[in-house]
Amino acid sequence: MKIITSITEMQTIAQNLKREGNTIAFVPTMGFLHEGHASLLREGRNRGNILILSLFVNPIQFGQNEDLDRYPRDAERDCRTAAECGVDFIFMPEATEMYPQGFQTSINVRELSKPLCGTARPGHFDGVATVVAKLFNIVMPDLAFFGRKDYQQLALIRRMVADLSIPVSVIGMPIIRESDGLAMSSRNAYLSPVERKSALALSRAIHDIRSLYVSGERSIETLRRKALTIILQEPLLQIDYLEFCNEHSLQPLTEATDDTLFALAVKAGTTRLIDNTVLGEKV
Ligand code: PAF
Repeated sequence: MKIITSITEMQTIAQNLKREGNTIAFVPTMGFLHEGHASLLREGRNRGNILILSLFVNPIQFGQNEDLDRYPRDAERDCRTAAECGVDFIFMPEATEMYPQGFQTSINVRELSKPLCGTARPGHFDGVATVVAKLFNIVMPDLAFFGRKDYQQLALIRRMVADLSIPVSVIGMPIIRESDGLAMSSRNAYLSPVERKSALALSRAIHDIRSLYVSGERSIETLRRKALTIILQEPLLQIDYLEFCNEHSLQPLTEATDDTLFALAVKAGTTRLIDNTVLGEKV
């Protein structure tokens, strides 16, 4: 396993690998890897014959009052996880390598970046789209793997790849949960024990809404009321949004169908947690 910090070195390696006919599988991350990331890496290992991981806490996707400075980091542990998952190259640039003085380009996926997390985090998805496009140009992957926990991010990256004709297949992977249901996230590390317990209301809401849907409930008003009741039972939680929308357009709906995405963002103390499910999908 080789660690690369320079963009030109990574590009040269990627170009040579492609010339030799390799299939490059790529997992972009901000590090502090957990089992969710490991599941992406294992899938990448199976489907490509070269596996590249990026570890880069991308400053331009954090708002001014967000957690850039305290975002959890553990490069040594990440390198061990990467080695265990069979990673061939880790791309780990400094922020000044990615965004040298004078950098001023931004990608805006207009409609998909507005609702859900886009409302509370203006500019966040421009930062995500811009860094992912840049990473694609550096790593030149054939396949790129993203977790469905960041559902809006995945939808937006798919749109960007289609709109800009970027030659990469984007693969969305299932949410990986702790044994008690909490969706895995690097930010779970911020939770105090009581906050962590309250945070289980998110997966409980996902579970109960799915059950109601399966039992025939189609009224979004009823589904929303049920979800609200579950979250509001936890005094430590503060709802950012709780939405039912079309899984492709992310536009709100009045009646639930198999294509309905139920997505929620909730703050436990200062930690923002997200979770989602598509009602018609098997989990
Ligand atoms: O999901 C993440 O970890 C980040 O948003 C990504 C895709 C690596 C871009 O910085």
